[in-house]
Amino acid sequence: MTAQPQRPAFGSLLTSHMAVASFRDGRWSGMEVKPVGPIEISPAAHVLHYASTCFEGFKAFRWKDGSIHIFRMDRHIERMRQSARQLVLPEPDPAQLREMVRAVIDRCREAVPEAPGALYLRPILFGTTANIGAAATPSAEASLLVLASPVWDYFAGGMKPLRILVDDANTRSAAQMGMVKTGGNYAAAMGPTLAARAKYQVDQVLFCPGGEVQETGAANFLLVREGQLLTRSLDSSFLHGVTRDSLITLARDQGYAVSERVFGVAEMLEWVKTGEAALSGTAAVLAGVGTLIYRGAEHRVGGGEVGPLTRELRARLVAIQQGEAPDTHGWFETV
Ligand code: COI
Repeated sequence: MTAQPQRPAFGSLLTSHMAVASFRDGRWSGMEVKPVGPIEISPAAHVLHYASTCFEGFKAFRWKDGSIHIFRMDRHIERMRQSARQLVLPEPDPAQLREMVRAVIDRCREAVPEAPGALYLRPILFGTTANIGAAATPSAEASLLVLASPVWDYFAGGMKPLRILVDDANTRSAAQMGMVKTGGNYAAAMGPTLAARAKYQVDQVLFCPGGEVQETGAANFLLVREGQLLTRSLDSSFLHGVTRDSLITLARDQGYAVSERVFGVAEMLEWVKTGEAALSGTAAVLAGVGTLIYRGAEHRVGGGEVGPLTRELRARLVAIQQGEAPDTHGWFETV
């Protein structure tokens, strides 16, 4: 077995520069690229009190010839605008946000890792109006930042099968907020996830409020078996993953019957007796589940290992992202 090189934990390393813009008097300022460093913010800033903030996460890949390509940036920018609308924050101008991302990559080109690494792009938007009484008033001012981080695997252990606690008691987010990529949803998942980690040594919690399978704290959830893929249909209660959408598209290309519908814990446990389960996300890519724990009982998924269909779907996506298979869906923008 070849030794894996030591790599920084996902997101722990930033590139040297970030892009910054601010919204004031009803308009966005021009953007500025500057060294990553502390930012000044009023202690009364809206975000610090009322959590008016959202973010995005997507990747740029360095292909074998050295060229750099951003994966589905347009979809991520649209999702950020949707999050901003739901949080009543000023919507980023898509052309400006795109330029900010391109400018950061351009400034930090040498920091884009070769495969299997990627440059993770992290735009964040937050309300800066200084008024601690503005609990029911939106922030009229905001900041938009784009950070970048050279990344490798999100789950330590790479393709190790994940242990997941099935939680039908807690909810990841308020029903109307699940589709919003906002820090509050991750904060809400933190307590149940840490408790589950301590009690069951799991990697993640799969939230199934009322017995309906939804998503984990940081990734969407998919069931796969020969020629079939099942995942929850889109509604406001969970994040509309761009990786989820990409995998569904690739599965359809392969002739899979893709079913997007609401399904319950009982059906999932039946499915995994012979089928596979996996988590999808920009960070997770497609990470196979080996064990589901429900009401104290362990259920092995397939043989308890990452299944062959999960591996194949992941490999198809990764091959496109790394420029080794054709981009037939027009998912890339070259920087
Ligand atoms: C992503 O997959 O981009 C995410 O947002 C996960 C993140 C919480 C690390």
